[in-house]
Amino acid sequence: MYFGVDYYPEHWNISMIDGDIQRIVEMGCNIVRIGEFAWHLMEKEENQFDFTFFDMVIEKCEKAGLKVIFGTPTATFPAWLAKKHPSILSKDENLQVRAFGGRRQYCYNSKIYLQYSNKIVTKLLENYKKNPSVISWQVDNEFGHEGSDNCYCEICQLKFQGFLRDKYQTIDKLNEVYGTIFWGQTYNYFDEIPAPLKTITTHNPTLKLDWMRFKSDSLNQYANSQIQLVKKLSGSHQTVTTNLSGGFYTKLYDHEENTKHLDFVSYDNYPVWGGLKEPVSPGQIAMTLDFIRGLQQKNFWILEQLMGAQGHDVIGYLPRPDQGKMWAYQAFAHGCESMLWFRYRGMTKGAEQYCFGILDQDNQINRKYREVQSAIKDISKYKTLFTSNIKSDLAIIYDFDNIWSWKVQNQSLNFDFTSELMRLYTPFYEKNINIDVISYKKDFNRYKILVLPVTKIIDEILAVRLEDFAKNGGTIIFSYRAGIKDRDNNLYFGKTLPCLVKDLCGISIEEIESLQQGQDVEVVGTGSYIGHTGRCEVWRDLITPNTAETLFKYNDKFYSHKACITKNSYGRGQVYYIGGGVDNIVLSTIAHDILEEKQIETLESPTGLEVYKRRCEEGDYLIITNHSSEKKLFKEIIFSPYESKIIKI
Ligand code: GLA
Ligand code: ZN
Repeated sequence: MYFGVDYYPEHWNISMIDGDIQRIVEMGCNIVRIGEFAWHLMEKEENQFDFTFFDMVIEKCEKAGLKVIFGTPTATFPAWLAKKHPSILSKDENLQVRAFGGRRQYCYNSKIYLQYSNKIVTKLLENYKKNPSVISWQVDNEFGHEGSDNCYCEICQLKFQGFLRDKYQTIDKLNEVYGTIFWGQTYNYFDEIPAPLKTITTHNPTLKLDWMRFKSDSLNQYANSQIQLVKKLSGSHQTVTTNLSGGFYTKLYDHEENTKHLDFVSYDNYPVWGGLKEPVSPGQIAMTLDFIRGLQQKNFWILEQLMGAQGHDVIGYLPRPDQGKMWAYQAFAHGCESMLWFRYRGMTKGAEQYCFGILDQDNQINRKYREVQSAIKDISKYKTLFTSNIKSDLAIIYDFDNIWSWKVQNQSLNFDFTSELMRLYTPFYEKNINIDVISYKKDFNRYKILVLPVTKIIDEILAVRLEDFAKNGGTIIFSYRAGIKDRDNNLYFGKTLPCLVKDLCGISIEEIESLQQGQDVEVVGTGSYIGHTGRCEVWRDLITPNTAETLFKYNDKFYSHKACITKNSYGRGQVYYIGGGVDNIVLSTIAHDILEEKQIETLESPTGLEVYKRRCEEGDYLIITNHSSEKKLFKEIIFSPYESKIIKI
């Protein structure tokens, strides 16, 4: 297990480094991350490489017993490179060049940029591949973050046409799949096909999805090219990772493809950032950790753990005493094995003056320093526990094609994919069960329950896999708009909704309605849910049950005969369909019954108190984190606001 800080000695007078390192060690750290933005320091002029500064830093770390994760500096190229080769700069959808001055402005498809980044990475690796203190490499920094996942430059436009040529082979095939006959858009040649730049009304939905797939391929080709280069050049004692930012489902890159060649996945865990008046919900933090663990289906590192308020031009919520420590406990509960806090000391110059670190501008030991010290002291006692594997009976299934299809056409002004995934994640999270969040490409047969939030795209292969899962006794939970589209982002023709999963769900859907801001409809329980009522927002599928049982129906002037929530027996399994944006109370009731039916152990806890059960060779443990500002009681134990505990059971 490693515990450390993100450290930027180059930001300070070098006379401070010895004191810094001493305090870092006294905090309980055994590792630091350095270098991820220091390209100019290593190559002041083209081909003039100089690593003496970092040689000195690493030597001092080594003397102090600190290991090092070195970040390749390709997220921030030097000004001389942008001046010499402006073509490396990406362009936004207005074809406006992204000027030098921020970060991540490079185009993933720039061959020139790839040449220069390979050169600096090669020099860097040659310099430290044998260094025993450098134990890991972070490739670049937060690929695709801050709007850097999309570039519309001429290089990208040309490459997109090649991407389409390779995919469809003939222009006739593309025209047929796209339905370009519509609005007379038939292409004669691939070089007539535009990037989805601003137009009047909207582009072809399949073209827009292909563009997103192309953006994902562009980013991942660049990322994996560097990952492979670092793996090839690094020492046998060194591992390779990259640090993913949050906001996964908003990004135009397949995170599973991005991380498949890494030795382990790393994550930057910021429960609150910028002008938010409060952190995201405990469940949403938990979901992000489960998503990161699900990428390689193994434990992970956190390379940036929040301790101070964060923001570039606007900051917001101040983490309360012990809240930062509590978030660290939660991260380890969900599969973090090593953690570095961002950042040792906040910088007083440059764009991140308000990205507060552990130490502030007074450079004095403070509450945050002692809180990190305390977290390291406590958590480091549980190495066996936190290096054990996590077993879940339930998996949330996502598919980036589907996520991007929703990005192309939201259908409801109120639709947000992350919110709809959380709508189904939360009721199970609140029962304190372990949850995996995985791509549909993963083998999901070992689970007892699969949850597929708003999965529009269901092709033949996935439909058959799901049928087999249910036949063999699995429980599946679909939510609305399931199965309406094929993988070309086109509606199925000649099939009744939900198309390829119609029989699996035991329902038909003839009519649908998009609900907008402030609109919701009442749903009422039937059968064993008589007396239960709830609300449905964002969307509603008006369901006719065929072989399925109606659990909830709409209480509505025109549609009281239409079902909202159904349950179908299929093979030895059960298939639930949630036909709209149903509220948490109703879904929690159904989640409780499903978990009982599957004999999955739940742990009741007061709202805001997360209880995460882990099993290792030393026995069973509960990692308990109080996410609230109130005292909470659990198993006769009182938890102060933001208090965390690990108890053996
Ligand atoms: C991200 C980046 C860091 C820094 C922090 C600030 O996680 O990786 O370089 O910008 O945000 O919160
Ligand atoms: Zn580009």
